[in-house]
Parts: sequence; C-alpha cells; structure tokens
Amino acid sequence: MLGDVSLSAGAWGYRQDMMQSAIASAERPLRVGVVGVGVMGSNHARVFAGLPGTELIGVADPDRKQAEFVARTLGCVAVSDVSELLDRDVDAITIAAPTHLHRDIALSCIARGVHVLVEKPIASSVEEGREIIGAARRAGVTLMVGHVERFNPAVEAIKDAIHGEDILSIAITRVGPFPPRMSNVGVVIDLAVHDIDLIRWFTDSDIIEVQPQLSSAVAEREDIALLQFRTASGVLAHINTNWLTPFKARNVTVATRGKYVTGDLLTRQVTECFGFQPDGSYSMRHLSVGHAEPLRSEMLAFLRAVRSGVAPAVTGEEAVASLEIATRCLSSRPTAVVPAQRKGPRAVVG
Ligand SMILES: NC(=O)c1ccc[n+]([C@@H]2O[C@H](COP(=O)([O-])OP(=O)(O)OC[C@H]3O[C@@H](n4cnc5c(N)ncnc54)[C@H](O)[C@@H]3O)[C@@H](O)[C@H]2O)c1
Repeated sequence: MLGDVSLSAGAWGYRQDMMQSAIASAERPLRVGVVGVGVMGSNHARVFAGLPGTELIGVADPDRKQAEFVARTLGCVAVSDVSELLDRDVDAITIAAPTHLHRDIALSCIARGVHVLVEKPIASSVEEGREIIGAARRAGVTLMVGHVERFNPAVEAIKDAIHGEDILSIAITRVGPFPPRMSNVGVVIDLAVHDIDLIRWFTDSDIIEVQPQLSSAVAEREDIALLQFRTASGVLAHINTNWLTPFKARNVTVATRGKYVTGDLLTRQVTECFGFQPDGSYSMRHLSVGHAEPLRSEMLAFLRAVRSGVAPAVTGEEAVASLEIATRCLSSRPTAVVPAQRKGPRAVVG
C-alpha cells in the first residue's frame, strides 16, 4: 500500500490538537510564503496570490532582482533568505529552490512549526527525504510534496477510468527538448520521477523490480532513459523519457483486462476502448476531462491538509518511495549480455 503512515498515540493527540486549532482558525487567512521564485516558484507565488483564504506574505530568493520582480508583481515583500520569511510569522511555505537545498530549507521551516509543500523531488537523496519526513512528523506539521502531475485533470480521468479494473500494463512517454537551464540532475530524477509516482498511484502498489537502460547522448548525466518495472501487484510498466525530442510529448497508456485507456497529458484528451468482442470489434469513447490548473489544485489540496490536519494528497513517504525507485534506476547496472563469439568466415572448400 502507498503512504502507509502510522502515528503514535502521542503524535495522534498532537494531531488532534492541531486539527482543533486549525478548525478554530479556519476563518483567519493563512499566511503563506514561497522560497525560491525561479520558474516553478514564481508560479507557486502567482497561484497563492490568487487563492481565497490565503495571504501571500512574501517570497525569498537570493536573486534579489527576481525576488523583487515577483514581489512587485504580486504585491508582497521580497526577502533574500528563508529565515527572513519565517520571521514574518507565516503559517505555510512552499519550497521551490533547487533540489539540493530542499532538506535544509524544509528543516528550518519545520523547526519553526511551519507547514511545508516541497517541490518534487522531495530531496537530493532518500536519506535527506526521510530526515524531512521525521522532522515534520515530530513537529506535527503538514508535509506535502509537489507531484503536480497527479492533479492533471487528464491523469485524474485516467485514474477514474481504471478504477476497479484489473490493470495489466502501463506505458508512459515524457519527452522533450533539452531544458534551457542546465540542471545538476539527469532525466530520471528530473522527469521520470513524475511517472514513477504515477505508476505507483495508478496501481496503488509498490514497484518491486526495475530494469533501466540509460544513455548520455549530449549531457553529462543521462538524457535518455527507457525504464521497465514490475509492481508488487504484478503490473508491468514502462517509461520512455528523454531530452532529445524536438517537441514536448506526455502520453499515458493503461491496458487492463477490460479496457485500453490512452491519455495525452498536454492536450488532455483521454480515450478508452472497451467491450472487446471475439470478432475483434470494440467500443470507444472520449472521456470528459476537467480544465483546472494542476498547480492550483495541488496547492488547494495542500491548504486543505494544513487546515484540517488530515494526511495530504501526496505524502512525504510516497515521494521518498518514488525517489528511491528513481535512485535504484541510476544505481542498478543492467547485466551486460556478452555477445556470442563471432565465428570467422567459413572456409570455402573448392
Ligand atoms: N513539479 C514540477 O513539474 C516541477 C517543474 C520544474 C521544477 N520543479 C522543481 O522545482 C524546484 C526548482 O526548479 P526550477 O526549475 O524552478 O529552478 P529555477 O532555477 O528556475 O529556480 C530556483 C530558484 O531558487 C533560487 N534559490 C537558490 N538558492 C536559494 C536559497 N538558498 N533560498 C531560496 N531560493 C534560492 C534561485 O535563485 C532560483 O530563482 C526543483 O526542485 C525542481 O525539481 C518541479
């Protein structure tokens, strides 16, 4: 099972107290901030600024120009460091600084009793991710991780379509051009971690076998990955991801015993084939898909968890489990098959 979080009696009592105080203060706007306002964080700040019941207090980024630009646009303060934001008495913070900083920034927020939404991947390593989980649990604060693809309406439609079905296989393609900003991670940690999370979420099962094939065609780190998995529930899954495709594509296909569901996560078209007949005929229909902005839905889910004290939609445990699989893909070296020894040219007998 995914995200199986057990709470001790003490922690449960604390959680209940927290729920009571959260309910009591439900009328008060939540004071929120964003740490790291580059590409992703500036979107977090934009969404926060437009949410009801939320007051965007400030954004923190050592890049003063960028922080001030975002703050000026959205009408909040710009500071250069998370500690300055914490001094402004915020209730919740989203962390969209570079991944290698997630652990330290999250721990400093949690130490001040502030709820955190950490961008994916949760941290640079499984150990660091577990440190964040442990600290959040001890402090009794909400920790959610930004696996935003779960809130894509096309993904939600696929999840609904396969509900109660016997899933057989999943294939996901997530390809595109090389990112304009050089990152210190390859495609597996940057992109495939989204789809590892989706495979675990669609199947409600853990991945127990990984068979990765990686290559670095242009970048220093892997920029092509073909990853195969088997889940504990017996589903076979495949991820095809790279930074070498001139256009972006994000497609999901799920085969179940009774259905074949395909979804385009960019155009948000989801189609299912069903009613297979012995003569090869079948029925097909386009499913209705919502229009909500995934990031807005994710942040609303985070705020609901903060206000209610219930487990968030994407827990730290789930995020660490996905990061662990991504890390295994990088560390497991597929066994090389030694090519059969070539026979020399056959002697021609005259
Ligand atoms: N969920 C998604 O689909 C998605 C998409 C893109 C990025 N991300 C994640 O978001 C995070 C940021 O990625 P990005 O693409 O926005 O990067 P980015 O480089 O555009 O932005 C990072 C920002 O953090 C700032 N920063 C650096 N050190 C800081 C510090 N000590 N305190 C506060 N801010 C600091 C930088 O100045 C920069 O403005 C990464 O963890 C990445 O994996 C998630």
